Amino acid sequence: MTAFLSGTNMVGGYGVVDILRGCTIEVESGQVAVIVGPNGAGKSTGMKALFGMLKLRQGTVTLAGEDITALTPQARVAKGMSFVPQTDNVFASMTVEENLEMGGLTQREGVQDTMAQIYDLFPVLKEKRYQPAGQLSGGQRQQVAVGRAMMTRPKVLMLDEPTAGVSPVVMDDLFDRIIDIARSGVAVLMVEQNARQALQIADRGYVLVQGENRYSGSGPELLRQEDVRKSFLGG
Ligand SMILES: Nc1ncnc2c1ncn2[C@@H]1O[C@H](COP(=O)(O)OP(=O)(O)OP(=O)(O)O)[C@@H](O)[C@H]1O
Ligand SMILES: [Mg+2]
Repeated sequence: MTAFLSGTNMVGGYGVVDILRGCTIEVESGQVAVIVGPNGAGKSTGMKALFGMLKLRQGTVTLAGEDITALTPQARVAKGMSFVPQTDNVFASMTVEENLEMGGLTQREGVQDTMAQIYDLFPVLKEKRYQPAGQLSGGQRQQVAVGRAMMTRPKVLMLDEPTAGVSPVVMDDLFDRIIDIARSGVAVLMVEQNARQALQIADRGYVLVQGENRYSGSGPELLRQEDVRKSFLGG
């Protein structure tokens, strides 16, 4: 049985250089999977490959058992995938609510209901709904980015460093909301620099090094491994 979303033996990169060198990344519905690893390891590249923004030279991406390796990102969105990239993930000059509306553009119905659910999840966004997203704090902007991605009611939510640049308190809160999203049935896959904290909540964790799986297991399992702690978590 393959996982709900599965990228298997992925090989590919930019031009002739392979960045992904046979890595496998999987996530199940209702669970959180976390990718950690050094800068330049290929974490963001792996996310792009799963979302169809990078053509693989080898390997397969499946969603609910269906081979989607050849699909465009738009087609993957239609199949229930949603992606928050590492940078430029909100429209700074648009209001919070306009950002959410943009996220919901592909939805035929239920946009208002979905928006209400997102405001329940992130109450501060409701307070600030008429403010330009560019005026919000870093943590609030990340909430907008996650909220926008949730407007398509995805089955898979992919987040590239959702807690980058936010305080520890805001990070904990964001992780709690991400767990809420997963427990509602969504498969959540995220890349994280805050490796220790992210692995604590990971049903499945991957340490990616030079485009290969160096370690994988549940988050708590990885945290117990001394070589993972020493090499990747600062002791
Ligand atoms: N568009 C691109 N064109 C060419 N090379 C790229 C491109 N994007 C990334 N790379 C290179 O691919 C390698 C992996 O980059 P990637 O962004 O996937 O790493 P990462 O693990 O996400 O790193 P970080 O922790 O810094 O976000 C790096 O050597 C990077 O310089
Ligand atoms: Mg990255």
